[in-house]
Amino acid sequence: MKIHTKALVLLLLFTLEFSLSLAADDGPNFGTVIGIDLGTTYSCVGVYSNGHVEIIANDQGNRITPSWVAFTDTERLIGEAAKNQAALNAERTIFDVKRLIGRKFDDPEVQRDIKFLPYKVVNKDGKPYIQVKVKGETEVFSPEEISAMILQKMKETAEAFLGKKIKDAVITVPAYFNDAQRFATKNAGTIAGLNVVGIINESTAAATAYDLHNTREEENILVYDLGGETFDVSVLTVDNGVFEVRGTSGDTHFGGEDFDHRVMDYFIKLIRKKYNKDISKDNKALGKLRSECERAKRALSGQHKVRVAIESPS
Ligand SMILES: *[C@@H]1O[C@H](CO)[C@@H](O)[C@H](O)[C@H]1NC(C)=O
Repeated sequence: MKIHTKALVLLLLFTLEFSLSLAADDGPNFGTVIGIDLGTTYSCVGVYSNGHVEIIANDQGNRITPSWVAFTDTERLIGEAAKNQAALNAERTIFDVKRLIGRKFDDPEVQRDIKFLPYKVVNKDGKPYIQVKVKGETEVFSPEEISAMILQKMKETAEAFLGKKIKDAVITVPAYFNDAQRFATKNAGTIAGLNVVGIINESTAAATAYDLHNTREEENILVYDLGGETFDVSVLTVDNGVFEVRGTSGDTHFGGEDFDHRVMDYFIKLIRKKYNKDISKDNKALGKLRSECERAKRALSGQHKVRVAIESPS
């Protein structure tokens, strides 16, 4: 038997398998179906049209939106607006809720993660809830409710691009998500006013985006998904257009932002050495450096799709 191993490095790719098949069938009364990649760090939204997947830019012109929500005394901020003010409003700036969604409060992962979160996570009915003070009042939100705010922003991004209201969506989740996490993600979609027609595995969505379902013989596919803060590796097999997840693993605390931090450290040291200036305590300078590092990384990663095909001896 000949085994092909295709290795993909993916940063942002995903697709709309459901949208595709629904569109092909003309769907049972579905309108345009959008696909949302609800990421730990960033989210993106796409739509299948004219034979390809279009990833839609948000109101800031970016094709990825930070999965961040912030509360101030006057408004609720989502995406870039939330992330940009984080340093000034750390206790009310919420991110990484994907690490909490569908989990129990006493889950060891939750206990480990909340130690590093600047906002407050409390135990409500055995589930982790986010607690913030808004206008002097203490409010709690479930991870689903926060995710719903991000999903709603993605929905609005798609609506602005398509010029019409959108109801139907598919949402991607990591292959390792269990039923509770999948259910909670679907529930977040419902809270956002979406009709969630499918929850699909990110690795399957990525493989579909590379057209890897169109193979004649059975193939094994290795998917590397380097996200903002997480790194997932999955092995899939595809046979006759059907994917099966054979295994999934990775590092839940390693991703593109770790590269950013290393690059930041490098420049902080360089600036100290070259200009005899320490910017490590200067929030404004650090913010500027961070956004430039992120921009440079995205410009680099956006230009190349790395696709390696290795054929092992038969
Ligand atoms: C998604 O991945 C899980 C393995 O984590 C697998 O059990 C499930 O069948 C997959 N779902 C689809 C629709 O491929």
